[in-house]
Amino acid sequence: MCGIVGYIGNKEAYPILINGLKRLEYRGYDSAGIALSNGETRTYKIKGKVADLEEFVSDKNISGDIGMGHTRWATHGEPNDVNAHPHESNGGKFIVIHNGIIENYSLLKKKLAGHGYQFKSDTDTEVLANLIEYLYVDGKLTAEEAVRLALHNVTGAYALVVIAKEETDKLIAARKGSPLVIGIGAGEYFIASDATPIVEYTRSVIYLNDDDIAVLTRDGLSLKTLKNDILTPQIQEIDLEIGAIEKGGYDHFMLKEIFEQPDTIQNTLRGRISADLKDIHHGGISAEIDKIINARRLLIVGCGTSWHAGLVGEYLFEEFTRIPVEVEYASEFRYRNPVIYPDDIVIAISQSGETADTLAAIKLAKDAGATVLGICNVVGSSISRETSAGIYTYAGPEIGVASTKAFTSQVTALSFFAYMVGRKKNIISQELYEQLISELVDVPAKIQTVLDHHQTIQDIAKRYKDSENFLYLGRGFLFPVALEGALKLKEISYIHAEGYPAAEMKHGPIALIDEKMPVVIVATKDKSYEKIVSNIQEVKARKGIVIAIVSEGDTIISEMADHVITIPMTHEAVSPILAVVPLQLLSYYIAVLRGCNVDQPRNLAKSVTVE
Ligand code: G6P
Repeated sequence: MCGIVGYIGNKEAYPILINGLKRLEYRGYDSAGIALSNGETRTYKIKGKVADLEEFVSDKNISGDIGMGHTRWATHGEPNDVNAHPHESNGGKFIVIHNGIIENYSLLKKKLAGHGYQFKSDTDTEVLANLIEYLYVDGKLTAEEAVRLALHNVTGAYALVVIAKEETDKLIAARKGSPLVIGIGAGEYFIASDATPIVEYTRSVIYLNDDDIAVLTRDGLSLKTLKNDILTPQIQEIDLEIGAIEKGGYDHFMLKEIFEQPDTIQNTLRGRISADLKDIHHGGISAEIDKIINARRLLIVGCGTSWHAGLVGEYLFEEFTRIPVEVEYASEFRYRNPVIYPDDIVIAISQSGETADTLAAIKLAKDAGATVLGICNVVGSSISRETSAGIYTYAGPEIGVASTKAFTSQVTALSFFAYMVGRKKNIISQELYEQLISELVDVPAKIQTVLDHHQTIQDIAKRYKDSENFLYLGRGFLFPVALEGALKLKEISYIHAEGYPAAEMKHGPIALIDEKMPVVIVATKDKSYEKIVSNIQEVKARKGIVIAIVSEGDTIISEMADHVITIPMTHEAVSPILAVVPLQLLSYYIAVLRGCNVDQPRNLAKSVTVE
């Protein structure tokens, strides 16, 4: 949420910043701005996308070898030119870009107003810029000291970069709750919300921790805590190919990411399954494996699509390990005073590893003494660092705001995790264990078959692109898939869609069904098959339009449904990974046909780093 990029070195900063903002635009895209300095400092900002900013500055002075840029997802104040970042203090001494929320900003604003400060914008960030300036002037401090003191006076979350006009040889950066990573080049430094703007210049990075303050000059880097203790920077090498963050010939990142799934699932499985397909390695959860096997209860926390993956995890773990599972929205869990036992195992699922509510849920669980594991995609992310053990999904960068490949990789990781624990506890036989492993290993090829038949889905999309409502139904393992299908459609096409357990339809949604309502029913061959056939009849009896996802060889539903999308046969516990793919494609094609911006849907952000 909000993208931050900064540069200090001997090159022109502008191309690096604009390029970086384009890479970060998936984090927020309602306005954009930059500040550039070559002794004299200039700020340009505008409502709209990074492309609008580029056009806006085309006739301006954009020279400077120090600078910072911001792409915004509005929290305080509507998206407009004035609320866009960077924000300058009244006296023009400090320029700030910020991601996060300063919770006590209105109190600070009142106090600063009492000292004569005036505010142009509605943002909390402008308050912070003025607070820094106020402390700088009054205390005769250095810019770094003023930033530190200001941060002692704020509550909330931030990742920020500051340029001080009286000390223009440096960038000052600080983090609490929102990610920041520093890239180290030769005589130059980069700073960004994530590594994507940095990777084409350097692979050596430092991830800031909460309460870190970094000062970057051309000659070096100083890293301290908010309490002013000196830290030794931990330099890491990142492994990220530039191709992974480009569209690679696809029209949208989302389409690329859907089509990448045969590879990304293979990457999730790589090194986890023995060569003879008879066993699963503990890998990143080795340290906690005994606790997991003996757990009385599992709690799974996540948000959005990751929460849906968690629901599949509940079905998997209860089926194969008989450990009771509760799945919680991280945002509810953290505030509802949940009962957490010290012997609970909490699994936090997150693509980005930066979602604020999931991070807070982890902290709560840790404070209660529980063992917390992470299932994360982004290596080195906050959640991966906050958890004692876990599984990386290795799906590669996901840029499309609507999550696709992250979901299938999360469910893949939960699957082999559940099978492994189930076998260790002797809940499942070696025979079933091996069957499940080989079904999982076959998933990439089966997804490829679904992708090869995308034309059928495109044709269905053409017929129903103008529908105002959609209903998605599924049972058992496929109920979370129905939720995920509905979420995909509403996120990117703005069509109202609801996911329901198929049998629950009779308790409400059936009232909505008429000849205009497409009902997407995930009805592959499993133990609920006959039941879902009855549900389809109930929809047809009310003249609903049935779009059914069926297993290959199905004849019964094919005769009843208006449209069928066939997917290869697999074990019912593996079917969510396959069945979600046609739903991803359906939402993608509908959104494109409706002219929606698929990769940057309105109001959404990829990484929700504010609560
Ligand atoms: C946002 C994204 C979703 C994502 C959710 C959780 O809402 O748009 O795609 O599922 O956050 O994100 P996480 O990174 O924690 O999986």
